[in-house]
Amino acid sequence: MNLSDFLNQSCATLNHSSQLSELILSIAEAGKQIAALVAKGKLAGVSQQLNSINVQGEAQMQLDISSHDIFIDCLSSTKVVFGAVSEELASPHYFSDHIPDAPYLVCFDPLDGSSNIALDGVVGSIFSILPAPPNAVRSDEIFLQQGIGQIAAGYVLYGPATMLVISAGAGTHAFTLDPDTKVFELTHPDLKIPAHYPEFAINASRQRFWEAPMQQYIADCLAGEEGVRQCNFNMRWMASMVADIHRILMRGGVFLYPKDHQVTDRAGRLRLLYEVSPMGMLIEQAGGKASTARASVLDLQPLQIHQRVPAILGSINEVDLIEQYHQS
Ligand code: F6P
Repeated sequence: MNLSDFLNQSCATLNHSSQLSELILSIAEAGKQIAALVAKGKLAGVSQQLNSINVQGEAQMQLDISSHDIFIDCLSSTKVVFGAVSEELASPHYFSDHIPDAPYLVCFDPLDGSSNIALDGVVGSIFSILPAPPNAVRSDEIFLQQGIGQIAAGYVLYGPATMLVISAGAGTHAFTLDPDTKVFELTHPDLKIPAHYPEFAINASRQRFWEAPMQQYIADCLAGEEGVRQCNFNMRWMASMVADIHRILMRGGVFLYPKDHQVTDRAGRLRLLYEVSPMGMLIEQAGGKASTARASVLDLQPLQIHQRVPAILGSINEVDLIEQYHQS
């Protein structure tokens, strides 16, 4: 089944408006265009680092900006989006020509993990679709909604194959882009994350900045069969959230970007609205769990549009255990 048929069917079953299907198809179109740019590598002429710094204090690449522009153009073609928050913009973008009372807000990271671009490593785009409040006015506040209220979320992974993974509240489903027909085909319906898989993903170079319970959890995993876990763990770190979360959706394990004391004004590295919250929805819709180690990610009340939070996402038993380490 292709994406368009799948969306028509799901929107009817879930009582979503056909406008949602139109919106997700526009994001899929953005994904195809970005995939084409990423696939050209240096030949696209957009892989150079710019002198500009984004709102996160990170150096921007031309590809970040081009991907952002592609997203805005594709969202703009639908006329159903009131406004959008992008990782690349300090303030939201509003679509002035869209229908009055346009029903949706979109938060997106147009090119996540872009430090991998120079290495031809896997990168992705992440998005979250929220309801626009009735009579919405242009303000950051309209985007500050709990993740539990997301209408849909997903990512596009630009890897050996381009894949689109989405949830509109009834499971998490993965589509593969057929390079011949340029159509996303449903290849992995209803993903299920095993409750336990002995593999963790963390940037271990930051160990000295973690809180004591996180230090203890990782030490216990590393102790393997001889330690309290009595189990040998494997470790993977792609430095690209889309790639790491995709692996966990496919075979289980846990992804961690925990609270980090190095920069005291940051609770974590990853952004709530367009990284942790949409990934949290995908993980929970696949039977996993998304936590900050102390609270459910999807219950967090955002305070700022670019807010960072700790992120512990993956196999439910492992995330439960990590929460227990933080309670004791
Ligand atoms: O900004 C996000 C991101 O690139 C994620 O995609 C990735 O998981 C993380 O940062 C990588 O962090 P680090 O540079 O610490 O490995």
